Amino acid sequence: MTQKPNPLNSIKVNGPIPAHLARSVIEETLRSAILDGRIPCGTALRQQDLADLFGVSRMPVREALRQLEAQALLNVVAHKGAVVAPLVQGDAVETYALRILLESEALRLSIPLLENEDLEQAARYIDEMETEKNYTEIGRLNRLFHMSLYCKAPNQRLLRLVEDGLNEEERFLRFNLEAMGLGKLSQEDHRALLRAVENRDIEGSVKLLAHHLNRGVEVITRYLGSPEALNKKTSQ
Ligand code: NI
Repeated sequence: MTQKPNPLNSIKVNGPIPAHLARSVIEETLRSAILDGRIPCGTALRQQDLADLFGVSRMPVREALRQLEAQALLNVVAHKGAVVAPLVQGDAVETYALRILLESEALRLSIPLLENEDLEQAARYIDEMETEKNYTEIGRLNRLFHMSLYCKAPNQRLLRLVEDGLNEEERFLRFNLEAMGLGKLSQEDHRALLRAVENRDIEGSVKLLAHHLNRGVEVITRYLGSPEALNKKTSQ
């Protein structure tokens, strides 16, 4: 039997971490290692291993893991503890159906309250996506663009759910955007959506958003069923 390399070996800790920063340093370090795939899906993270690695007690580790769980990056599994979540949790079609409901509502509530600065910021994110070549960065810009349109929705709990969905998508896009060839089409959707929002056309905007997210679910479903995705899954 060959021994699998320990994914935690990829994490470098620079010197002692001041106690008051421990939670956020651990959270940020693990977050980026999960997002860029150094700690693969299905990896169980043991509190004691992490406490040893970061040279801290288990308390900040536990708090950091709780934050990552809230961001849908970890699942707590009986007898295994915190396990890195799969790229798409459950059924992609159901996930997107729910996102369409939540994001449409956030958009509806936000449009009348958006200010010019919000719209200018949204336009800048689209421009940045246009020239950006790095898929990790494109995933981040996509999330920021969408959030900039929803940000004025007064319901904070709704916004948190919306952001969880976008975080999940961002993580998926990082690994698969190139293979899915979604780039150009998404940009046309983004521009059309922003135009409708600028015109304060609520129903038109919601329609365009649903169209955009449905395109996403189609591409992801097709991709997940493709031989390339299956190879990737088994090699992880
Ligand atoms: Ni998008």
